Amino acid sequence: MDFDNENRIISPDFNESDSDLEISLRPKTLNDYIGQEKAKENLKIYIEAAKGRGEQLDHVLLYGPPGLGKTTLAGIIANEMNVQMRVTSGPAIEKPGDLAALLTNLNDGDVLFIDEIHRLSRSVEEVLYPAMEDNALDIIIGKGPSARSIRLDLPKFTLVGATTRAGQLTAPLRDRFGVIARLEMYTPEQLSQIVKRSAGILGIAIDDTGALEIASRSRGTPRIANRLLKRARDFAEVMADGVITEDTAKIALGRMEIDPLGLDLIDRLLLTSMIKNYNGGPVGLETIAATIGEEAVTIEDVYEPYLMQIGFLSKTPRGRVVTPLAYKHLGIPMQGQQQLDM
Ligand code: ADE
Repeated sequence: MDFDNENRIISPDFNESDSDLEISLRPKTLNDYIGQEKAKENLKIYIEAAKGRGEQLDHVLLYGPPGLGKTTLAGIIANEMNVQMRVTSGPAIEKPGDLAALLTNLNDGDVLFIDEIHRLSRSVEEVLYPAMEDNALDIIIGKGPSARSIRLDLPKFTLVGATTRAGQLTAPLRDRFGVIARLEMYTPEQLSQIVKRSAGILGIAIDDTGALEIASRSRGTPRIANRLLKRARDFAEVMADGVITEDTAKIALGRMEIDPLGLDLIDRLLLTSMIKNYNGGPVGLETIAATIGEEAVTIEDVYEPYLMQIGFLSKTPRGRVVTPLAYKHLGIPMQGQQQLDM
């Protein structure tokens, strides 16, 4: 089976149809940004202190599952510091020269946002170290014994790096970030506030119960909540009086085959195939990947974080295990060994 994860309505990954929506809904200031209280409170202080000293902000690393607002937060940092943001990503910077070009084009104080920073190549990373540490670019001129290095001064800048996998960052890169903030999945209450804020901006009529229903099925992720809001509006307009209530939200989400906990067909397939083929585990990641025809990294980055967050899947040294809670949710009786182990 081959699933198109980009078009999965509950995929936390950014897709093309999100672009206008997401950009128009992005909060511009920390005060408008809902949730992530810990990261937000600390950033507020660092930003105020840096501004008070007339300096640029220290380099910031944001990490956590996709769709939680890392790009949004980087934009807010730039906005609060009154500077421009340049956006790029680890895989887009192919050669050291690409990064050198980006760095030399920055203005003093600018934010350089590098998404998926764990995917920078070694040779590009080496250019980044002196840039982050000394605002300098080391250029090698010539080859062999006559090669020499010259150092160019760069504008002062703030690097904001984002990654879903902080563990894959090299230690020297990680050590060069002064601020490291972990983004957490949002609670249904926080997502409900985000849904209501978005509905207000888009002119969508929704009541509190409708917002909470959408929020509860959005897997802790604002990007998914905003996408489901748009789809629920379609159902509300065509099948009801245009207002998203709990009932219309339930109908819309049911039609999209998103269950009350936000699981879609693929999540359920992942769990049921582990149960049917491997008695619920333990089973290795690669084996699961082969069984459902999905890439191991996708399973790890996209499906597992939420399934682990809601306690449906656990990681053990011997592999992944489906928990009794998941059996209960799926309505599958536990049997034999698995039950005795638990
Ligand atoms: N839209 C997406 N993420 C958001 C957040 N954290 N706060 C407000 N609106 C958002």
